Amino acid sequence: MFESNITVSELALKAKKELASNFGVESTLVSVAPGRVNLIGEHIDYCDGFVLPLAIERYVGIAARPNDSQTARISTTREDTIEIDLSKVQEIADPKWSNYLRGIIRGFQDLKYKLPGFDASIVSSVPLGAGLSSSAALECAFATLLEGLVDTVLPIADKALLAQRAEHDFAGVPCGIMDQFASAFGMKNQLILIDCHSSEPEMVPFSDPSLSIIVANTNVSHDLSDGGYSTRRKETEDGLALTGKESWRDVTMEDVYAAQEKMDDRIFRRSRHVVTEIARTAQAVEAFKSYDFSNIGSLMESSHRSLRDDFEVSCDELDLMVALATEIGLEGGVLGARMTGGGFGGSTVTLCHSINAEAIARQMNDRYQAQTGIEPLLFVTRPAQGAHLV
Ligand code: GLA
Repeated sequence: MFESNITVSELALKAKKELASNFGVESTLVSVAPGRVNLIGEHIDYCDGFVLPLAIERYVGIAARPNDSQTARISTTREDTIEIDLSKVQEIADPKWSNYLRGIIRGFQDLKYKLPGFDASIVSSVPLGAGLSSSAALECAFATLLEGLVDTVLPIADKALLAQRAEHDFAGVPCGIMDQFASAFGMKNQLILIDCHSSEPEMVPFSDPSLSIIVANTNVSHDLSDGGYSTRRKETEDGLALTGKESWRDVTMEDVYAAQEKMDDRIFRRSRHVVTEIARTAQAVEAFKSYDFSNIGSLMESSHRSLRDDFEVSCDELDLMVALATEIGLEGGVLGARMTGGGFGGSTVTLCHSINAEAIARQMNDRYQAQTGIEPLLFVTRPAQGAHLV
């Protein structure tokens, strides 16, 4: 299915209506935070690498109002309403999804904020389980809401790190910093280059309106806590140890070859992915800065091959979606395509000319569905604004 994006104001209105119908009150606060798509730099945010994501025009929105109690009552459009006792220090509890929220509350409690009770309703236009960081969007939207409730504004990096801790400690996913940084720091017309060694973001202009990004969710679902992600993370740690270096940032391909005898083939290929992907991302940033778009396309394609063959996080559906984009080619307006996010299913990212974007997306949609029998979800986006109160 090809789908247009709804605007932030439409989503905010939807959240307000939900709050009114679930709790019979009018909101005093509405927060939103976007999902993200990564253009290049995959599976290297936990390896001190560079990543180049952007916030997408798909958001989690939360409308809320204090309720003069010590309880947070929170509804969503998908799950039963939950109640969280704010007088208690938060720990992991059922239902599973509530832990994203409990983890954020805990972050505020650790910072010694006293949260007032409140009613809240959550809505979302970020596809779930599609590798587009719906959980980071939820964490960042909720953290932004809590900032509003206690009338404070945390430094953006602190808020993103608090959200990452919630994901680690409450959701059990040992993710890097990319998703929460992208959702928190996103800016219109800007890609976010994150130096994951120093945790510093730098904006890279993406202001040319003739370029757009197609996100294609294969609708093959993955679960990052199922072990594939943490295994990859562990393998990169093993690879680094065998090179004898402290940080992947200091490792060259020569170092990897020098350690190859000590590595089994799998660790060698994981290591090769990390070193070459860090280099590709740095090159892609230079290519963006000099408007060398054909080079970006070939970097995206090498990135996909490396993720497929060396890092082994792609799957048939992702490979097919990428092939469908690349076969349309430059003549049809496609500059490059690759899988994006954690992998094992999820989405691809295609860089293309805006004028052709919708036609390309519709063609990818139809061909994917014809070949797999699975209905995918495709939409076009440009870099969007990060978490904020509306
Ligand atoms: C997931 C993680 C990120 C990052 C990507 C792969 O989205 O949450 O931190 O590691 O996978 O690039």
